[in-house]
Order: sequence, then C-alpha cells, then structure tokens
Amino acid sequence: MRVEFPEGFRWGAATAAHQVEGDNTNSDWWHAERNGTVPYASGSACEHYSRYESDLDTAVEIGHNSHRLSVEWARIEPVQGEFDEVQIAHYVDVLRALKDRGLTSYVTLHHFTNPLWFAAQGGWTNREAPAHFERYVARIAGPLAPYVDYWLTFNEPTTVAQQGYLSGEWPPHARYAAHKALRIIDRQALAHKLAYRTLHRLVPDAVVGYTVALVNWRPIDPGSAIHRRMTRILTYFTNYRFSDQVGDETDLIGAQYYFTVLTSWRPRYPGAITTAEKSDLGWDIVPEGMYDVVTDIWRRYRKPIHVTENGLADADDSRRERFLLAHLRELHRAMEDGADVRGYLHWSLLDNFEWAFGYAPRFGLISVDYDTQRRSIRPSARAFERIIRSNGFDWEE
Ligand code: BGC
Repeated sequence: MRVEFPEGFRWGAATAAHQVEGDNTNSDWWHAERNGTVPYASGSACEHYSRYESDLDTAVEIGHNSHRLSVEWARIEPVQGEFDEVQIAHYVDVLRALKDRGLTSYVTLHHFTNPLWFAAQGGWTNREAPAHFERYVARIAGPLAPYVDYWLTFNEPTTVAQQGYLSGEWPPHARYAAHKALRIIDRQALAHKLAYRTLHRLVPDAVVGYTVALVNWRPIDPGSAIHRRMTRILTYFTNYRFSDQVGDETDLIGAQYYFTVLTSWRPRYPGAITTAEKSDLGWDIVPEGMYDVVTDIWRRYRKPIHVTENGLADADDSRRERFLLAHLRELHRAMEDGADVRGYLHWSLLDNFEWAFGYAPRFGLISVDYDTQRRSIRPSARAFERIIRSNGFDWEE
C-alpha cells in the first residue's frame, strides 16, 4: 500500500548546539565534563561550528527541505547581561546559510545546556530564571527573525527535570529531588510563556512552540487497576504537565518520540519489552508508540504537531531504514485518524555527542569519523531521501 504525505510536508533532521558544534566552554555541561561529574567530554564535537556550510550542503544533497538546530545561550550571553555580538552574528550566518539553501528552519532556543553563570544561580530552580531567559530571547529575536520559520523555546523540559533532578546523571546532579524536578518543569513553562509573548510582540508573524519528550507508557497488565493508574500518573508528568501549563500560548507542539515503557507499580526501564527489537543503547524499537503518543497529544491539545525528533543509535545502520519506514507508517496512521502533523525531523543529521553516553552511540544519518572529521552518508540516509523525494513510500505489512 502507498503511504503518501500531504504536499508541503516538512522533511529533515535535527541537531543541538552542544552536541555538534564543539568548544561550548561557557556552559554548565562543559564545566561538568571538566569536573568529571559527567563521564565523557564533548571537546570539539563535530566541529559543526565551523563546518556548518558543508554539513548543510549534505543535508540538501540527501533531499532535506527543513533543518532544526539550536542556538547556544552560553555563547550568546557568556556573562550575565553581556551579549556577545560576534556569536549572534555567527548564528545569523548559520541561519542565512539555511535560507540560501532553501531549508525551512526550526530554531531551538534552549536545548539542555545553560550558561555557567545561570547554573551557578540555581539554574531553573531560581525564581529569576524565566526573566533571564526572556531577556536572552528578546535580545536575539530581532537579528534572527528574518531567517526563522519555527521558534522552539525549550527542548524536552521534562528530560531536564528527570536527568538533572531525579536520576542525577546530568548537571546539576540532584537525585530524587522530586519537588525540584516539578518546580523546574513549571519554571520552564513560565519561561516559555514569557518568551512566547515577547516573540509575538517583537516578531508579529512568529510561529512559536516547544518540544516535548513523549513517552508511551503502557501497563504491563492492562487488567490491573494499579498498573493503569501508574500509567496515567507517569503520562501526566512526562507528556502533559508542561503542555497543560503552557495552555493556549503555543502555536505548535514539537513531538519527540523515543520510548515505549512498561509500567507496573513502577516503570520498567527501556529494554524491558522482550519481543521488541532494540537499538545499540538497548532502547526498545516500538513503532506503534508513535501512533499512540501523536494521536493522544493531538486529541488533548489540538495544536499543529511537528515531529521534531525520532531516531535511534544504530552504528552499523542495519535497522535505521526499517525504523524510519515503520515509524513514518505509524505517524501517517495518526494523520489518517485526524492528527494535524506538518513535518518529520529525524534525530540526527550527524553522529554527535550523546550527553552522558559520550560519542559511542551513533544516531546520525551521516556518520562522523571523530579523528578526521570525515563525514559519510549512511545508506539509510539515501533511503530517507527516496521517501522525501517521492513524499511517501510503498509499505508492506
Ligand atoms: C534529545 C537529544 C538526544 C536524543 C537521543 C533527545 O531526548 O533532545 O539531544 O541526543 O534524545 O537521546
């Protein structure tokens, strides 16, 4: 059967500054990497800071019509209140390079990393945090606006809460600090709303959203009331809490899907679904979860959805093509059932610095040899290109 996407559908890949640029020296992550509180160091990453033009050429070569990147607050405001014009000009150049290539741009304003000065004041637990964020957004809105199609204020606010305040694996390494985890979700929601208003005031035709990590929680025993209740509670915290607070103050939702997780009275972590295929990180590959989370978020919020991330660690590229087809088939099914989905951006364009896992996981459509910085287009990138160029594919169950 033919799976056909609507005309004008956005296709491409996503990146994030700290993971690809290199030398993000004024950020909390860089500091943690030096201290050894995270086990790996990002170093010069993919040197995308200087190689962005040829990387964007490759994105176009493999058919992409859209691209998502993040601008780095720690570069733009390295010292509180001091904005670096050279860095702002750099991002204007990067975004102009997208426009020169005809790429639709998705620009994330906060993708996990914070300026060190901001982290030193308590990060998102600080009452002043939303105001600091709003000032940064106000400062860059004008210069960047001519080149931005979609603004995304925050990337996965609940991941920041989970990794930084519950598991403690990411800066600031708080563990089981549930009240703080909730507070920082709420602070980021407030910061989003302030930024949303500021962007609309300064850039009247701005389209502004955020991204959310949608976890497809599933009760191990659907007949058990406890399992079902736990599923509802977890779904609320990961998938709804931030969006509920934002309310109507968003123009789109960036849906990111990686995980289907089984729950009983407690979650069973990724890898627990024994029949599912797994990525190199042991994460279960469950394409139907794409349908579940997208339809759920559509029914609850009725906002245009762009899939701003979805992907897997697959170093030998043996599963990525099938992964793409199966997830896109499920996304399409959600659209057939009414979800207003406007685009699909794969994670990621390039292999990159996978946070606390370092450089081992390979998420790229394009592989990177970190010794030579040589890029090679993976076969799955060509398969994705064929999908994009025909705006669909033939699907066999
Ligand atoms: C994040 C990316 C990350 C990817 C794979 C998402 O949660 O936005 O930065 O690399 O997942 O783990």
